[in-house]
Amino acid sequence: MTMAEIRREATTGLTTEAIALDNTYAAHNYSPLPVVAASAHGAWITDVEGRRYLDCLAAYSAVNFGHRNDEIVAAAHRQLDAVTLVSRAFHSDQLGPFCAALAGLCNKDMVLPMNSGAEAVESGLKVARKWGTDVKGVAEGTANIIVADNNFHGRTISIVSFSSDASARGGFGPFTPGFRSVPFGDADAVAAAVDEHTVAVLVEPIQGEAGIIVPPDDYLPRLRQVCTQRHVLLIADEIQSGLARTGHTFACEHWGVVPDIYLLGKALGGGVLPLSAVVADRDILGVLHPGEHGSTFGGNPLAAAIGSTVVDILRRGEFQTRSAELGLHLHARLRSLLGHGVLAVRGMGLWAGVDIDPRLGTGKQLSVALAECGVLVKDTHGSTLRFAPPLVITAEEIDWAVEQFASVLARAGS
Ligand SMILES: Cc1ncc(COP(=O)(O)O)c(C=O)c1O
Repeated sequence: MTMAEIRREATTGLTTEAIALDNTYAAHNYSPLPVVAASAHGAWITDVEGRRYLDCLAAYSAVNFGHRNDEIVAAAHRQLDAVTLVSRAFHSDQLGPFCAALAGLCNKDMVLPMNSGAEAVESGLKVARKWGTDVKGVAEGTANIIVADNNFHGRTISIVSFSSDASARGGFGPFTPGFRSVPFGDADAVAAAVDEHTVAVLVEPIQGEAGIIVPPDDYLPRLRQVCTQRHVLLIADEIQSGLARTGHTFACEHWGVVPDIYLLGKALGGGVLPLSAVVADRDILGVLHPGEHGSTFGGNPLAAAIGSTVVDILRRGEFQTRSAELGLHLHARLRSLLGHGVLAVRGMGLWAGVDIDPRLGTGKQLSVALAECGVLVKDTHGSTLRFAPPLVITAEEIDWAVEQFASVLARAGS
């Protein structure tokens, strides 16, 4: 029997019952792999059957520092024993230190704390429109924001209003106006789309959900130039690409570009809870006044304590270095499969989009086959698999994961 068959045989009622319960009572807005997690530590997840899996997804990069990272969990425990939520009706002794630390990490003046990534994006769009009205002098209600084709910024109505993914939009209209989408990687198209009503250009420095698409080297520097020249805010959505994932704190650093606004999320909450942020200078975030924006849980003491610990970790730089070094190893190993079922490998650091020969199966089928061998990845857009392990993964674990991948491809091709 193959390892996959042995592992499959171990499936008991625990797995099938848990999946049946999800299917009955949880909305079907996802199509998960048939793996039921019961615990996790570092780069490994254990399911309800006691089987271990090497996590090569890291909750879409929310678990960059490893599952239940000791330092982060210790900070969470300390704060659980102190105070967890007061709302922004009062101050807490955690919010100021967190905002100061995060602003320092980003070399910006101020932080607007929120919860989910989509909320950070929504908040960034609101800030850009308000800046357009109050600072740039764009007539109220006439602002436009330029975005990139095939973007992914979340799932709210305004965000899907500028999605090019039919399944993200179908049936959800009417949509929010005021967005212009141009091809990703085409700085000339952005320059041509800017007019006197343009308040911002919103972009993922590397497109994640689209398949880890790295733009041409002159793209972000040229966007920076256009935005500066035309008095337009450059907003970098670093929710998936940021916080050490690509080998730098921010993916924008690969091209020496500093945006006007950073949107952060996912790993900012240390894989423990949702924590997101809009980070910018005072002349931008200062446009918000009391009552104009907010969230009951945004910047709560528990999230702030965890966020401060995440910033401490990022300041030390060890995860950026790990991601850069081990990323070279991961990419080299994956590239060795080119011509053996793999058509292309893209990405930076410990973040890889791998296009599979569609004749071998769909991305979902191959993800299921890999899970049966103990490696968790997720498909995106048909035949692309995403490898984004927690940054605590070792070179030996990468080798093992790629060996499993090679055997799955070989079996699919036989
Ligand atoms: C670039 C980017 N922006 C925003 C989001 C939305 O984050 P959330 O799912 O926390 O709302 C995501 C999620 O995958 C993302 O990849």
